[in-house]
Amino acid sequence: MSNMVEWKTEYRVEVLKTDEQHQNIFKILNKLATAIEKDKDRKTLSYILSDLVKHFSYHFTHEEIYLECHPDFDAHHQKHWELTEEILDFEKRSRKDTAFNFSDVLNFLNNWLENHILKTDIEYFQYVREKSFIESID
Ligand SMILES: [Fe+2]
Ligand SMILES: [Fe+2]
Repeated sequence: MSNMVEWKTEYRVEVLKTDEQHQNIFKILNKLATAIEKDKDRKTLSYILSDLVKHFSYHFTHEEIYLECHPDFDAHHQKHWELTEEILDFEKRSRKDTAFNFSDVLNFLNNWLENHILKTDIEYFQYVREKSFIESID
């Protein structure tokens, strides 16, 4: 299954709840990969996309509570906002377009999440921790 993604320890931001949410999103992305592989109907695949919208939104809101004291918080929030808009658009289009390409969307989301965690989340959490804005790791 080439489209499966695996959460790796290098993705840790060292805040338990955030790491769990990231792992959870990877699980749903893999659920979508499996459903595509099994040729599930468009309605089922769209439903998984709507589940992703919910989990990403919840996660972003939660993560932003930790990171809002970062001086470049707005840039991070912007990335979250853009992705949310994009998935909402994917979800809407997937319900109408009979030729909607779920595999492309899956690849895009897999890459986005991996890059975002490695290049943005980790750096922001590190800064906030160093400045002692997070007192415990949970
Ligand atoms: Fe983030
Ligand atoms: Fe995140």
